Amino acid sequence: MPKKLSIFINLYSAVAWILHNKLRGRQSRFQFVKVTSGFFITGTDTGIGKTFISCLLLHALSAKGKSVVGMKPIAAGQDNGKWSDVELLRTAGNTQVSYKLMNPYALDLPIAPHIAAERQEIKIDLAVIDHAFHALAKVADFVIVEGVGGFLVPVNENQDTSDMAQLFGLPVILVVGMRLGCLNHALLTVQAIKEAGLPLAGWVANCIDPEIQALEENIAALQHRIDSPLLGTIPFDNIPDMLVLSRLINFPNNI
Ligand SMILES: Nc1ncnc2c1ncn2[C@@H]1O[C@H](COP(=O)(O)OP(=O)(O)OP(=O)(O)O)[C@@H](O)[C@H]1O
Ligand SMILES: [Mg+2]
Repeated sequence: MPKKLSIFINLYSAVAWILHNKLRGRQSRFQFVKVTSGFFITGTDTGIGKTFISCLLLHALSAKGKSVVGMKPIAAGQDNGKWSDVELLRTAGNTQVSYKLMNPYALDLPIAPHIAAERQEIKIDLAVIDHAFHALAKVADFVIVEGVGGFLVPVNENQDTSDMAQLFGLPVILVVGMRLGCLNHALLTVQAIKEAGLPLAGWVANCIDPEIQALEENIAALQHRIDSPLLGTIPFDNIPDMLVLSRLINFPNNI
């Protein structure tokens, strides 16, 4: 082969190889890969503000430019064919998804979920919930999953909410409904979260009782005993402006 031709072929091969690798790199950079994160929101009891705080978290993350979606895997108690938690989370999020993914189990009666399910001859299957969670995780940066009741509420014969939280492996945020008795409930819940092997990202003091006495001392007592940060103290507010209140949430620095 003439020397000139051989140099040309070698040069051509080298350029082709470099181009090929550059394009491959570019392709992988453009691949649709969502690094999803999120939080599992639990609380010291039912009715203490899990949905309220989940909505504030959704607003706060939206304000940081994140795509967010709320999830209520199990909702018990309908009102004219609507489940209020699901509607509130839906309004607070910024990513459109189906009801079925946000809320795989919509139960009619406002009673303990495993009993509500039994009454409808349904068995709550955590695999179904896990599947929905992963579908949501593909379309949003953050999935805010609201638990049901407190951390150890049964969801079927053998499993409870902590099993559901373990499935997702998300860091937990504990909402403490600030009222008499909450110290014990909060500390027991922290213990249960630890036993489940889940990280506690922090806790929120939600002032659901406008009449509570010694609020500051109660908060201080929890701060002293919970080795995860207080992410915010949310005042009692009958006509809440969710955007304004969401600014009271302090996320860990890496968000
Ligand atoms: N900081 C607050 N100020 C005023 N009202 C509040 C506050 N937090 C919660 N509430 C109200 O308390 C009620 C219960 O709150 P929420 O529905 O968020 O509780 P939950 O823990 O999600 O209940 P569930 O266990 O039924 O899901 C709601 O009417 C909500 O608007
Ligand atoms: Mg709720």
